[in-house]
Amino acid sequence: MPEAEASVRDRELFSPPSDVRGMTKLDRTAFKKTVPIPVLKARKEVVSRLMRALRRVALQRPGIKRVIEDPKDEDSRLIMLDPYRMLTSDSFEKPELSALKELDVNPQLSQYNLELTYENFKSEEILRAVLPEGQDVTSGFSRVGHIAHLNLRDHQLPFKHLIGQVMVDKNPGITSAVNKTSNIDNTYRNFQMEVLCGEENMLTKVRENNYTYEFDFSKVYWNPRLSTEHGRITELLNPGDVLFDVFAGVGPFAIPAARKNCTVFANDLNPESHRWLLHNCKLNKVDQKVKVFNMDGKDFLQGPVREELMLRLGLSTEGKPSLHIVMNLPAKAIEFLSVFRSLLDGQPCSTERLPIVHCYCFSKDSDPAKDARQRAEAVLGVCLEASSSVHLVRNVAPNKEMLCITFQIPTATLYRDQALGLQNDQEPPLKRQKTGEPFSGEPQSASDS
Ligand SMILES: C[S@@+](CC[C@H](N)C(=O)[O-])C[C@H]1O[C@@H](n2cnc3c(N)ncnc32)[C@H](O)[C@@H]1O
Repeated sequence: MPEAEASVRDRELFSPPSDVRGMTKLDRTAFKKTVPIPVLKARKEVVSRLMRALRRVALQRPGIKRVIEDPKDEDSRLIMLDPYRMLTSDSFEKPELSALKELDVNPQLSQYNLELTYENFKSEEILRAVLPEGQDVTSGFSRVGHIAHLNLRDHQLPFKHLIGQVMVDKNPGITSAVNKTSNIDNTYRNFQMEVLCGEENMLTKVRENNYTYEFDFSKVYWNPRLSTEHGRITELLNPGDVLFDVFAGVGPFAIPAARKNCTVFANDLNPESHRWLLHNCKLNKVDQKVKVFNMDGKDFLQGPVREELMLRLGLSTEGKPSLHIVMNLPAKAIEFLSVFRSLLDGQPCSTERLPIVHCYCFSKDSDPAKDARQRAEAVLGVCLEASSSVHLVRNVAPNKEMLCITFQIPTATLYRDQALGLQNDQEPPLKRQKTGEPFSGEPQSASDS
């Protein structure tokens, strides 16, 4: 039977009682229900051979044993069969009947009253039975340590405490359920959240790509959906490289990079992220390899990053490590690119191993990759068409993508005073659209925006 058909069918027979509809306070006892199930009696010693022959017709329901003791005969077992396939003993097919004959089992069926309770229903079945008919049911959440992080819709809000409780009951290891109460639009990108069920304690511990992070989820940013992206950037690094993480959070780029023997400079403006970043560096035994800062990203780039670049770009080329700058603040990072314009003006001009930037952004454009590139170009004042790549990180919402644009900062951007005299293979500055018209991305204060 196709999976979709099976699930519609299961919804009828195996759905909770109809009178739970509209329940806002969870009453587990209201989920009791008796379902008549056809059963076949067999001697216990033939059961395992019999089960192989009855694969097609045996009851398949997670959490329910298909073979139970026979209350009237301790030497026998009852095999539960699919009530939709097995109406009478005539429903057996020939090979099944031959197996019964061979094992000396009477094909006659009897009925067993299977009692289903709250424990036997899946979270989706419980919520579908409780919430208004025909409306969207959520059983999905992001898991952050012991916390289930939900993003409930308006029609689900009257049921929020029940939904939270069901998530805690049905997911081993989850002891707290929270609902996002606002979009992440504050500076530190942490959520406003309401605890729906369980512990108020938001101090949690997660594992990502074999590293451990501890933090207070109510005070810092953490998104389990970024684990692949954190791993992808780490893969690009070689031992000895230098990573500048401008918006480091609690360390998911910085710590794996340091463990790969890179030198890391990690920064976050949120004092709480800074505190947990330090803690996580110690926890993962990389505190000697990560220098941690608590500054605005613009000041970090113009201060410690600039100093380090001056030092490292002056070294001889041989064996020189690659320099990477990660900027994961997708709502704003592109604006911060303006800091690179003339950042090294007045310094001896280097064209070798200039820093590679991985800058994140969101796009709602029909061509998100082109949109990301053009926005970066506008801020930097150079063409990146042939010298950048754009990676699609994830779909954030319908028609909203998160992307990462990667490019090497052109000499013409870093050293603008000398760029005009350069005869090299760097990308040319963007042409002004009309004479005298400024670039749309003339230098601006990133932190003012
Ligand atoms: C989207 S989170 C990314 C955190 C981390 N890199 C990750 O991948 O999980 C952005 C981080 O930037 C920090 N932040 C926001 N504005 C900032 C600024 N102006 N300067 C430095 N950090 C900032 C926030 O506190 C937050 O931790």
